[in-house]
Amino acid sequence: MAKARSSFICQNCGAVAVRWQGKCEACGAWNSLVEEAPSAGIGALAARSAKKGRVFALEGLTGESQPAPRLLSGMAELDRVTGGGFVPGSVLLIGGEPGIGKSTLLIQACAALARRGERVVYISGEEAAAQVRLRADRLGLSDAPVELAAETSVEDIIATLSAGRRPALVVIDSIQTMWTEAAEATPGTVTQVRCAAQALIRYAKLSGACVILVGHVTKDGQIAGPRVVEHMVDAVASFEGDGAHHFRILRNVKNRFGPTDEIGVFEMTGAGLSEVANPSALFLAGRDGSAPGAAVFAGMEGTRPLLVEIQALVAPSALGTPRRAVVGWDPNRLSMLVAVLETHGRVRLGQHDIYLNVAGGVKISEPAADLAAAAALVSSLTGAVLPQDMVFFGEVGLSGAIRPAPHANLRLKEAAKLGFSHAVAPPGPQEGEAARKNAGKNPATSLRPIRHIGEAIADIAALGRATAPRPARAAG
Ligand code: TYD
Ligand code: MG
Repeated sequence: MAKARSSFICQNCGAVAVRWQGKCEACGAWNSLVEEAPSAGIGALAARSAKKGRVFALEGLTGESQPAPRLLSGMAELDRVTGGGFVPGSVLLIGGEPGIGKSTLLIQACAALARRGERVVYISGEEAAAQVRLRADRLGLSDAPVELAAETSVEDIIATLSAGRRPALVVIDSIQTMWTEAAEATPGTVTQVRCAAQALIRYAKLSGACVILVGHVTKDGQIAGPRVVEHMVDAVASFEGDGAHHFRILRNVKNRFGPTDEIGVFEMTGAGLSEVANPSALFLAGRDGSAPGAAVFAGMEGTRPLLVEIQALVAPSALGTPRRAVVGWDPNRLSMLVAVLETHGRVRLGQHDIYLNVAGGVKISEPAADLAAAAALVSSLTGAVLPQDMVFFGEVGLSGAIRPAPHANLRLKEAAKLGFSHAVAPPGPQEGEAARKNAGKNPATSLRPIRHIGEAIADIAALGRATAPRPARAAG
């Protein structure tokens, strides 16, 4: 038999190379190849024990499928993201940058469940038990009967968990610190992470416990380690936020048992994470509606409407190639919108620097934000102050036509709740009908239906003429 050679495994994507290279050929990551032991890796075990398979019985689709009751954490925002509670026997991976609050969120969820009599085990591979205890003490959770351990050996963890009463919830903080004897690679490498995750997933399926894995993220926000772990688990959520703001968003990326576009909003306080039941009010707090260049977008995040302010600054450029800087929105979408405004709205932006920002650090991916962004751009360019009580939504097509956005009625309802009395949006087929009916019922929100970007620009220009005599206010 040929001598087994060690292989080099990309820590970003899991691709295997026979020699070290500066760049992974599979995913293009630089300096990500790490030498791993020869026997490590999927398939090594299969070669050793190639025994004949066992015959098992196959079942039909109409078999027994008693849905196990979900485990509600009692934190409404967390339960919203999991799609109505943790699913017994499932594995949830939570990723996020260091210090964002993953451990804090999970110890709070553990304490809430443990207080309701469930067996909850929290395994920390990063902090000593005393440190976890100290944090729980600070959060006022020390009385909750959470079972705690600082361990990193997967075999020991599974043996301990299997010994007592079946736990309802097991938190592994974090998967990158775990190691298993099944793989010979060093802890933290792709092979170890994959094997450790595999063992824990197997434990979850066999025992019926819900396992939560905490995952580190790389510099560009991906969950570190092989993408394959994301494929193996039942659900993936990412915990986002930035240092400048107190709020955190738990965003669902994958969910085998529920919708994927839900978000949970939390606020980091001195006493841990508190839930934000009305995120629109939080994101609009501190809004200064007296300056041009700000438009409120009535958006949707999953099944929940969310109002955010889009701010634009359009200024004559001193550079040959004007600057375009975007925070919280897609830069390609801005380029497209600028081209549409130039072509179909005769708005001249070619010689202007453009800065676009979604206030509060929120990231928007919905195409319906186009109209609000366009309104903010035109408002900044013309100096027209948009009415404080107006929201915008609608997708702008390349022809300049504005297409209806889904859930118009929910958006309008949220706008009415927050005291917005006007909405500028395209009329939709059925949604628009419902919206108009809703608007009729609630005279606080009147829908101004527009079909083309040109109409929106004409409206804003008219506003500009109305607000022009007061430039001092806009400047102050
Ligand atoms: P942590 O949960 O340890 O983050 P992660 O596990 O994602 O690395 O959170 C650490 C941060 O949270 C730290 O910067 C301090 C802040 N924090 C508060 O502001 N209030 C609190 O009550 C707690 C426990 C943490
Ligand atoms: Mg942590």
